[in-house]
This record gives sequence, structure tokens and C-alpha cells, in this order.
Amino acid sequence: MTRVDYEAIRAKRIELDITQKDLSERSGVNVNIIKQVETGRSNTDEENLRSICQVLELDLDTVYHKDFHDTKVVAVLNNKGGCGKTSLCCGVGSALAEQGYRVLLVDSDAQRNLSSSFDMPRTPQHFGKAVLQEESLLDYIQPTNYAGIDMIVADVSMGMLDMNIFTKVHRENIVRSILQPVVDKGWYDYILIDTNPNLSLLNFNVVNACDYCIIPVQPAGFDVDGLGTVVEFIQGVAKYNPKLKIAGIVINRYDARSRIISETAVGQLQECYGELLFDTKIQVDSKLQASQWENVPVLAYTNSRITKEYRALSKEIVKRCV
Ligand SMILES: Nc1ncnc2c1ncn2[C@@H]1O[C@H](COP(=O)(O)OP(=O)(O)OP(=O)(O)O)[C@@H](O)[C@H]1O
Ligand SMILES: [Mg+2]
Repeated sequence: MTRVDYEAIRAKRIELDITQKDLSERSGVNVNIIKQVETGRSNTDEENLRSICQVLELDLDTVYHKDFHDTKVVAVLNNKGGCGKTSLCCGVGSALAEQGYRVLLVDSDAQRNLSSSFDMPRTPQHFGKAVLQEESLLDYIQPTNYAGIDMIVADVSMGMLDMNIFTKVHRENIVRSILQPVVDKGWYDYILIDTNPNLSLLNFNVVNACDYCIIPVQPAGFDVDGLGTVVEFIQGVAKYNPKLKIAGIVINRYDARSRIISETAVGQLQECYGELLFDTKIQVDSKLQASQWENVPVLAYTNSRITKEYRALSKEIVKRCV
């Protein structure tokens, strides 16, 4: 299903033997908009669709599914441990929900830090079980205590998942196929997937199921050195998943106090990755760790510099993930 059933609109116009130009004149909707709607490139607004439907004698409700969300699937990835993947999923997920987007967070890391950030209890219905049994993730979604955010939790038993899926047929496509029913439902604007710090078969699966990747990086020597490998990994997966794009690289734990190191690293990142870098940098903020200590998402815990930064970053992500 899609939000606008553009094929039905086009089919009805052809059935009635009306040209796009005629339809434009009779409905008052710009012909370019009609062209875009009919090819699925634009959803336009309800008023335009209503006018089009009146001319075509179509019932608006049958071609316009208001509650359908065009889901963007986004992985947060970097094999460098501790660079801020989980914190970013939590902060950006909350910020997107605050802006009115429907968000599904998927914790694909056996450390289950994202699940803990939302104080989600352990359950047998975890991501690893769905992967292992190749079951639709629809049955694994749980509500969180936070408006607009659902979650598929991880479990500590998932540590061996990579080895356990290694012998499966189509082992690179498992996550894509079990996630597809969720995307098809159109319940979410964004599915954010937190990954483990490896370039593993599981992460290949995750990235292979995604539209976009976001890479958090710390402005430090080893982190910057390792970034090329992550980018290459994503480019490797993109051969199997042509829609895949790197939405951007976000600098995390920027510390203005150690300016020399930070500025050198930032300079190098700018030189190598230029436009891929998000404008927003996430600075070091001890309130983040305090919120994680309490198992409360940082946006619900405090209103501080870091929450403003996650909000700003989420707006950039919305602009880049179109
Ligand atoms: N901007 C920040 N300011 C202060 N602390 C931060 C910041 N970003 C991350 N941290 C802290 O660094 C630690 C690692 O962060 P996080 O768990 O988000 O990284 P990760 O990439 O998910 O780690 P892993 O690779 O183990 O999954 C956490 O204790 C977190 O609180
Ligand atoms: Mg993590």
C-alpha cells in the first residue's frame, strides 16, 4: 500500500479518456502536480486530491490513505565501539517523535543498551528470535512509555546471532524480509536501527534492509582513521541494495575544551567527507550519562545543550532522508 494510490488515479483517468491537461483544467490542480501524483513522485495535499477525485468520480478514501506513513529505514552504524550510536538513536528517536513523527526503534545489539535507555524489560519476543526464526517483526513491536515511539527490543542472548544465521539460505536478506511487513503497514515515518560495534553478517543484514545510514564519529585519531572502513562497508552493501545512501556523518562528543585535538580531527573529517558531515555536532554533556543511569531517554530527562543538539540533528536528518 502507499499513501496515495496513484495507479488507481491514473487508471481511472485513462478509463474516462481524460488527458492530464483536461484533468488539470477541470480540477484546478496544476498539471505538473497531476503528473507527479500519477507517477508516485508526489503525494500532494488532500485538497488537490479531493478536486482530482471529484472530476474522476473516485471516492477519496479509496485512493488516499491519510494514516499511511512513508517509512524511512535508517541504521546508525560504526564498528568503533562507544562512539555514540545508541545515544544518537535514543536522542534522535525522541526528537523525531516530539516533532510528530511516528518512530520505531529497533535494538539489534545484544548489549541491549537502547532497550535499557527506554527501560524496556527483557522478553522472549526480541529481535534476535525474529531473525533466527525468520518471523515477521510485526509480532515483535512493543509500545514504550513515550508517545510516538515503539520498540523492538534486543536480548543479551543475541551475542551468537551471527554464527547462528551463517548457514541460512539468503543469509544477507533475513532482516530485510522480516522488516518488510512493518514497512508495508505504513505505521511509521522512521525506523531507526541501533547496531552492534562490528562489521558483521548481522550488520550487513541490517544495512541491507535500510534506506539510509548515519555514522556517528568521535573527533579522535583512531575513530577518524577507522571511518573509511565503515564507509566502504556501506558502499559494499549498496551493491546489493541500490537505494541505500549514507545520510551523513555526525560528530559526537565534540569537546571545545580540547580544541586542538577536536579542531584537527574536525578539519580532517571535513577534508575527507565534506558534505557528508552534518552541521550539528553533539558536544560532550554529562547529562546524557546521568539519563542513561536512570534508564530515561535524555530528552525526557533534561532540557540541556545536548537535547537541543539532538533536536537540531533530527531536523537535518528529516531534510536529508527524503
Ligand atoms: N555526547 C556525549 N556526551 C557525553 N557522553 C557521551 C556522549 N555520547 C556518548 N556518550 C557516552 O559514551 C558511552 C558510549 O555511548 P553509546 O553507548 O551511545 O555508544 P555506542 O556507539 O552505542 O557504543 P557500543 O559500540 O558499545 O554500542 C555512554 O556511556 C554514553 O553515555
Ligand atoms: Mg550501542
